[in-house]
Parts: sequence; C-alpha cells; structure tokens
Amino acid sequence: MVNPRAASSFSSPSPLLRFRIHTSSSISRCVALLLAFSAVLFFFSHRQIDEVDRNPLSLEEFFSVSEEQLWGSSFGHGYYPCVKPTSRYAASENWDRYLTVRSNGGLNQMRTGISDMVAVARLMNATLVIPWLDKKSFWQDSSTFSDIFDELHFIKSLQGDVRIVKELPKELESAPRARKHFTSWSGVSYYEEMARLWKDYQVIHVPKSDSRLANNGLPIDIQKLRCRALYHALHFAASIESLGKKLVERLQSHGRYIALHLRYEKDMLSFTGCTYGLSDLEAEELRIMRENTNHWKLKKINSTEQRIGGYCPVTPKEVGIFLQALGYPPSTWIYIAAGEIYGGDTYLADLRSRFPNLVFKETLATTEELQNFASHASQTAALDYIISVESDVFVPSYTGNMARAVEGHRRFLGHRKTISPDRRGLVELFDKIERGELKEGRKLSSLVTEMHKFRQGAPRKRYGSLSGSKGRARLRTEESFYENPFPECICLSGKNSHVYR
Ligand SMILES: *[C@@H]1O[C@H](CO)[C@@H](O)[C@H](O)[C@H]1NC(C)=O
Ligand SMILES: *[C@@H]1O[C@H](CO)[C@@H](O)[C@H](O)[C@H]1NC(C)=O
Repeated sequence: MVNPRAASSFSSPSPLLRFRIHTSSSISRCVALLLAFSAVLFFFSHRQIDEVDRNPLSLEEFFSVSEEQLWGSSFGHGYYPCVKPTSRYAASENWDRYLTVRSNGGLNQMRTGISDMVAVARLMNATLVIPWLDKKSFWQDSSTFSDIFDELHFIKSLQGDVRIVKELPKELESAPRARKHFTSWSGVSYYEEMARLWKDYQVIHVPKSDSRLANNGLPIDIQKLRCRALYHALHFAASIESLGKKLVERLQSHGRYIALHLRYEKDMLSFTGCTYGLSDLEAEELRIMRENTNHWKLKKINSTEQRIGGYCPVTPKEVGIFLQALGYPPSTWIYIAAGEIYGGDTYLADLRSRFPNLVFKETLATTEELQNFASHASQTAALDYIISVESDVFVPSYTGNMARAVEGHRRFLGHRKTISPDRRGLVELFDKIERGELKEGRKLSSLVTEMHKFRQGAPRKRYGSLSGSKGRARLRTEESFYENPFPECICLSGKNSHVYR
C-alpha cells in the first residue's frame, strides 16, 4: 500500500550562509541580540507549556533546538527551477486531431493527470480539448474546469507546446471517436503506437487521466513540459487564488506557520482500517462503511498490524507529541489542511492543548468568504493546497496525492521544508510511551529528532523502483514524478552539480 523508503542524501548547510555569519561583526551583534530575544521568547513559551502540558520539557531542552533547525531550509541553496525547453524542442503545430479527456479523482489526482495529458497530447501530435472533470467520484463536486482553473491562462501559457481548445469543433461533435483507456505508466513507444489510431479516427476520448504516463525514462523535454503544465500553466481560478493568498497573509501576520495535512477523515480511517484509539462503536461504524464501499477491495483489515506496519495516518494526538518532540513551541500556529476530522473535537483536544493556535479554513476565513466554496470539495481542497505550499513547514500525517503534490511543488519552489513522519518508527515510540517504558521529554525528543534528520525535504534525486519488484509493478513502486521532479525540473548551479546528476 505504501512504499517504505529510506532517505539517501542530505546536503550540508549552505557554505555561503556560514560565510555571511562570520564576516560582519555588526551582523554578529545582531545575531547575539536575536538570540537574547529568542531566549526571552522561549522563556515565555515555556511558561505557557507548564500550563498546558502534563509532561513539560525543560527550558534547557527548548534551547537546544535552533530556529534554523525548526524553520530553516537553507539546504535548498543553489537549486533553481529549470523548465525551459532544450534547443531541440520544436514549436507546436495546429494538429487537426483531438484528444478529449475526462479527468478522474480528487483535485490533485486531476491536476497531475491533466499535466500528463498535456504531455501525451504533445507525444501524440494532437490538439487537447479542455478536460472534463469527474463529477461522479465521492468528491461529488459539480465544478467545471474553469471553476477551478484559470482556463485562458492554461491555454495561453502552453501555446508553444500543445494547442488547447475549449471545445471540439462543431463538425467533429458527431464524428466517430476512439475510446481508449491508456495503459498506466506508459512511455514514448506506447504513445507512438497509439498514434496509429489517427489513421481511423480524428478524435480519441480518454476516460481516465491519472497516472497514464511513466515517472521515468521519458525525454527531458517531455518531463520539463509536465512541470510547465503543472506549475506554470495550471493556475487556480482567480477567486480561489485571491482567497488563498488572503488566508496565507492572515496566517503570516502571526509569524511562521506549519501546514498540517491531517488525514483523519472518516473515509480515510475506514479505507485504511485504522481504528487505534477509537471506541468499539466507532471501529464498528468504520468496518461497516468499508464493507459497503464496493470499490475498496480490502475488506478484512487487522488494525494493529496496519499500525505497526506504518500504514495508518498519524492520529491528531500523535501529531501533537511528534511536533512537540521536534521542538516546536506551543505558541506555533498550525493550519490544519483537512476535511472533517473524525470524532471532531474529541480527537483534536489533545493536539489543541499542546498547540492552542490551531486553525482551520473555517476559523481563518469568514462565512461570506467561504460561501461560494461550500459544497465544492475541489475548490476547498485548492485553498488547502495553496496554504500548504506557502507554509514555512509542511507536515503530512499520511501519504496521498495531495501530500505528494504539495511536497513536489515545495521542492520545485526551493526545497521548502516538508517533514514526513516516519510512521513505523514513531508507532514504536508511541507504544513505548503507552506501556510506560518511555516518557515525553528529552529522550523522546532526541529519538524523534534523529529519526527525522533526513526526512525534511532536502534536495535529492527521485527514488527509483523498490528492489525486488518486477514488470509493471516496478513502475508502480517508483517515486512519483510530481513528488520530486528532480533532476529534470530542478537544477543545481555551481561546481558541485556533478554530485546530483
Ligand atoms: C509528430 O510529429 C513530428 C513532427 O512533425 C514527427 O516527427 C513525429 O513522428 C510525430 N509523432 C507521432 C507519434 O506521430
Ligand atoms: C491482529 O494482529 C495482532 C498482532 O499481530 C494480533 O495480536 C491480534 O490477535 C490480531 N487481531 C485479530 C482480531 O485477528
């Protein structure tokens, strides 16, 4: 279900940064002043802990975690987005054959699927018709492409790559069309072969857009095109962008913030079979939901084994222990990017007692501001996406399309910090705490910090397939292109570049 992966590389802090600190004495004085100021801040936040936390960390322990360690992402230094086509790249032509697409899944599955379809249209020498969005998935969202995305910008910014039109030309509406489920994770040769369909048809309809393109082994210009499509062309509609920006500014007015993608919705727990910490009644409710949902294949799940294997979302309470152990002070602002949390405040109370500045879009925005978004799951998900990409630190409590897309986008924009909890490792520690073998405090803090040293979104190449996997399964276990578009769309300037290529 989830690929357990080990981190491979980590770059040391930028030499330039160290150089700057050592050069100017006035800067050193500033730093000293800042340190003194943060000492005072820490003292006050410490007092706050005493009030809210049953197992307060000592003042000394807060001193051991630097601001840089908590919020910094200087390891992104020297990397920059590189999505310009190579000199071999030819301008697009006005092909008189059309690809129509129905984009399936939730918001981020659709976004990455649409970006893939741009590349597929290019590979097949086709004109792309603006995709229809799935309205039947459990997202039950009636939004059209232009409700969510800036359609005109999408068409214009890809002008040199692929011709995109709003609709099929009138004369082709009733023309016979090929309906083709493209094989997932396909490469260039597959789509060259599919181009033979143009002999008999002028229109090909693709009923599913997700994961139709391989992560690796594609020409560099196709990979760069995928990035241009996702990061430059597929902007959200103006109303979404502007509210997203407003909410980010509201959060930033309090200082730095963490965006927590808290996967603790009912369907998520039911699907994964994770009932740890829930009542028997709730566990039963989730089991029944799972058995009655036809497209969830796995019916019998042992919750304990799921959890030990690291296949369960980190619970809200566990997230609180985790962030506190990493050294985030209780005054930290945390934006919760999520649907409705199962059990509501019952399961949020502990997290809130550790981090009182917990906010949701419903508390951050006014009712009027959210009015037009209500009952449009994809549009509220877009707000979560914007706020998560712009956050100082992003923490996903579970994997998924949103977590992957946000992490990739943050890498692309300069390796902004993304902390991926080591779920399997953490569960071991949490269980020790529960058995009374480990206490919250210095020991836990150093274990958790050590465990996550290499899980903070530092620059590295995309992981290949898991060893031992064969055939098509191999393609499935590769790290997603959009989770880490390195090295195709992220380049390194300077002399160390050979290390990463
Ligand atoms: C697409 O067009 C280019 C240039 O006209 C050609 O070289 C290429 O073979 C075509 N590809 C397919 C799949 O038809
Ligand atoms: C679930 O797995 C755990 C650990 O392997 C085991 O102790 C327990 O008996 C299992 N529960 C059920 C209901 O099978």
